[in-house]
Amino acid sequence: MERIVPDSFWMHFFSRPKKNYNPYVTMILDYPEIIFYDKKQMDALRGKWREEFGNDNPVALEIGSGSGVFAKEMALRHPDRNFLCLELRFKRLCLAAKKTRNNNLRNIRFLRRRAEEIDDFIGDLEISDIYINFPDPWEEKLKNRIIQESFFTVTDRILQTSGRIYFKSDHDGYYQDILRLVERLDRYVVRYHTPDLHNSSIRETNIKTEFELLFLCKHQKNINYIEIEKVK
Ligand SMILES: C[S@@+](CC[C@H](N)C(=O)[O-])C[C@H]1O[C@@H](n2cnc3c(N)ncnc32)[C@H](O)[C@@H]1O
Repeated sequence: MERIVPDSFWMHFFSRPKKNYNPYVTMILDYPEIIFYDKKQMDALRGKWREEFGNDNPVALEIGSGSGVFAKEMALRHPDRNFLCLELRFKRLCLAAKKTRNNNLRNIRFLRRRAEEIDDFIGDLEISDIYINFPDPWEEKLKNRIIQESFFTVTDRILQTSGRIYFKSDHDGYYQDILRLVERLDRYVVRYHTPDLHNSSIRETNIKTEFELLFLCKHQKNINYIEIEKVK
C-alpha cells in the first residue's frame, strides 16, 4: 500500500524540508499505533499514558530502546505491564515497531523523543520503573550523560516510591560514578549491583539487549549492572 506523507511531516524533525530522506524517516508512518513522533500529541498524553494503553497497568519507561530487543522480551514476559520506550533513531524505531507488531504486543509504545524532554510528556508519579541499557558514556563530555545528579530530580517527580531504575553498561567508569552518586542521595538506595552481570546470581533472568549481544560477541567485556530503588 502506498504511504501518504503529510506535507508538514518534516517539521517534526528538521528545521527545513530536505530533498532526500533516509527511507526509515517516513517508514515510521507505517506504525501509527506503535510509534509516536508528534510532540503535541505526546505532550497531550502527559499523565494519561494508561488511557493510551487502555488499561490500569503500571507504565515502565525505557530510555534509548534501540531496535526494541529488550522491550519486546519484557512486554512478552509481562503482559500485565505497559512499556513506554524512548528512541531517536528512525531505523531502530521501525525495527522495534516491526517486532512489536509481529508479536501482536499491545503493551508497548515507542516515542521518538529525547530523554531530556521527559518533563514535557510524562506526568507526576506516572512511571513504575525505568530501564536504561547501554547509554552513551560520553567519556569526553560527562555533562551529557543521561544518569547524573539532575536525572534524579526528574525521577523524583515521575517515578513512584519503591520504583526502581535499572542500569546496564559495558563502561566501568559510568558504573562506578553512578554508585558513588547514589550514595550521596538520601532518597535512593542501590539494592543490587554487580560488575559482572553474566556471572552473577541473576544471570538466568537477564534479558540480553542488542548492544549486550554485540559486546559479548566482539570482546567478551564484563557487563555492569545496577538496581536503584526510590525510597521516598
Ligand atoms: C548504545 S544504544 C543502546 C540501545 C539498546 N538500549 C541496547 O542496549 O541495545 C543507545 C541508544 O540510545 C538512544 N539515545 C541516545 N541518546 C538519547 C536520548 N537523549 N534520548 C533518547 N534516546 C537516546 C540512541 O539512539 C541509541 O539507540
